[in-house]
Amino acid sequence: MSLRIALLPGDGIGPEVTEEAVRILKNVADHSGKTISFSTHPIGGTAIDSDGTGLPERTLEACLGADAVLLGAVGNPKFDGRRPQDRPEAAILALRQALGGFANLRPAVCYTALAKRTPFQPERVRGASVLIIRELLGGLYYGEPRGFEASGNTAFNTMIYSRHEVERIALVGFERARERKKKLASIDKANVLETSQLWRAVVNDVAKGYPDVALEHVFVDAAAMRLAISPTSFDVMLCENLFGDILSDQAASIAGSLGLLPSATIGGKIDLYEPVHGSAPDIAGKGIANPIGAIASVAMLLRYSAKMEIEAVEVEHAIEEALASGARTKDIAGPGERVLSTREMGQAVEDALHEVRDRKHSYHAV
Ligand code: IPM
Ligand code: MN
Repeated sequence: MSLRIALLPGDGIGPEVTEEAVRILKNVADHSGKTISFSTHPIGGTAIDSDGTGLPERTLEACLGADAVLLGAVGNPKFDGRRPQDRPEAAILALRQALGGFANLRPAVCYTALAKRTPFQPERVRGASVLIIRELLGGLYYGEPRGFEASGNTAFNTMIYSRHEVERIALVGFERARERKKKLASIDKANVLETSQLWRAVVNDVAKGYPDVALEHVFVDAAAMRLAISPTSFDVMLCENLFGDILSDQAASIAGSLGLLPSATIGGKIDLYEPVHGSAPDIAGKGIANPIGAIASVAMLLRYSAKMEIEAVEVEHAIEEALASGARTKDIAGPGERVLSTREMGQAVEDALHEVRDRKHSYHAV
């Protein structure tokens, strides 16, 4: 059976990194015999320019008819000053809602070769691997009412969660924790917010079904501090929408660059894969962006949507190998290191993918 991917390259560096992600997917298709087909559609600022709206009907239809969606990035400073609903970012929020995925998985790992490129002393960060599970369809992002009062001098948003919304994301949290180190940190601000009090109560209820998972509740401010000084003390972090947005950027310090982080959004009609980074307008079009976040998102797509776990792990190993062999884009290069273009980094991961497969075959031959 073939796998139909809707590609939404979007704005800024989105198209550049998506191209390298597709290169890796095509390589996997060629080697596994799996048929993967691609169709490309506009989203974000690019779509506002071409279609007059950030999420054209034709794009949404294509996504709903696909097996998975791979998105680059959205956002363009030329739309600064517009109201939130008229900005490119609104398209991504509407897309997430339409696809229905409520569980956004954002893993951040320390690649051994990059430990010294992080802001940490290498021995503090080596081995760190955090999975942020971000609730993606609730909280302040979608809560009503929202807006400006007529005066323009008062503005408001609504943070709202229902038991059902917390329960379904908590289940994902405990299931993932069970597959990993059986440690779950639930992040909230239950000393101030009612939504967090509900969150904590529901997480405690769900915990009864997972006596094998060690649960701790951590206030979001304390969690930010702990992530900054002792990242290895966390494994799975369960967060509401905005807390997860903030902490996942912070968790990029574990890897050394936001450009390295992938994400998968699951649990809805169609799963959505996107690097955690934004459109990076300052470096767009220069061919210097790091494609690894997008390529690692492809690994997640192979794992969750294609059910190709072996190939997913091979891609992850290829990323590790490319980094271990010294492949560096500008964001992760140290002094004196040769800097690769986006395309060269994609090529380096593809070369490493061949090596990973060859090595496996020679093991089998022994
Ligand atoms: C992210 C981004 C988005 C978000 C923006 C672009 C709407 O920051 O995916 O983390 O806030 O969710
Ligand atoms: Mn973000």
